[in-house]
Amino acid sequence: MRYEDYLRRVPKAELHCHFEGTVRPATFAELARKHGVALPTQEVDALYAYDTIEEFLKIFGLVSTTIIDRDDFARVAYESLADGQSLGNLVYREMFFNPTLHTRRGIAYETVVDGIVDGIRQARHDLGVDCRLIADVYRQDDPAEALAMVEQVLAHRPDELIGLGMDGAEAPDPPERFVAAYRAARAGGLRLTSHACEDAPPQNIRTCLDLLGCERIDHGYHILDDPALVARARDEGLVFTCCPTATATVYGWRDLGTHPIRGMVASDLRVTLNSDDPTMFHTDIGKEFVDLCTALDYGPAQVRRFCLESVDGSWLDDGEKRALRVRFNAQLDALDAELGEVA
Ligand code: ADE
Ligand code: ZN
Repeated sequence: MRYEDYLRRVPKAELHCHFEGTVRPATFAELARKHGVALPTQEVDALYAYDTIEEFLKIFGLVSTTIIDRDDFARVAYESLADGQSLGNLVYREMFFNPTLHTRRGIAYETVVDGIVDGIRQARHDLGVDCRLIADVYRQDDPAEALAMVEQVLAHRPDELIGLGMDGAEAPDPPERFVAAYRAARAGGLRLTSHACEDAPPQNIRTCLDLLGCERIDHGYHILDDPALVARARDEGLVFTCCPTATATVYGWRDLGTHPIRGMVASDLRVTLNSDDPTMFHTDIGKEFVDLCTALDYGPAQVRRFCLESVDGSWLDDGEKRALRVRFNAQLDALDAELGEVA
């Protein structure tokens, strides 16, 4: 077996992937036609091109405007999980979505979340892939809007919805703006995470941990500028959800060999690999493993660490985690044996 095939086939749990960033280009074009949304070009693949996070977020917003009916939300969620499974042996995902990107267009919150959950349940039934949801604060929103979103989430909460996160452009809008939203989410029993140190100083991780109560950090790369914080993260077993391709594209680590993930792994931090916005960055969860692990020369032992770290860092309950670990280890043992025989 080629190492590339091995990397695609290892079982994966993914903790950092945005619903709105998983829309297939063909589905984007079809939904735009269905709803009469004007696009700057019919060659939608050409729209999935950006050099900065701001350019990316503009297209992320445009894609979102084509998802309108409950069926559209269900379709996108289903296709997203099917793609993860077929391209990278995705077994489980905790998936972000941005309620306010939809509700501000006049779409009822219930349509958004019920539609996504329809797609998740259908994928679980048809494909056996499982998924939970994390509602994201959009950083460019004002804090009152974020708090209202959390209240809406808590008032209509399917079992799949387990957490609160935060995305958007990090540099202009620091996390302390959203203390009230996080406090309400915590009081309502949601798990907490946030994008941090993707494009801002280590202080943002401290704020997320100490002020917002975050249990995981999404991205986290600039932690390497602060050795004391690296030591704390290691001591506390903090889990980072890293996204090679998306961040290589918009933050300038085009050569994955220079990506901060390398330093984070070398510093013995708990790193997981994720696809972020797979279709919008021309990637998938299988390709993320292939590209990063070949660029950094990671062998099967490190690959197993990545796979199991995602299970341990997930918000499944302890029994579910134990069962998933057993399943992952068995699959990894079989794949290691196959790799060894052919190598
Ligand atoms: N929204 C979707 N993907 C994102 C990312 N990588 N950073 C910030 N906001 C996002
Ligand atoms: Zn992200």
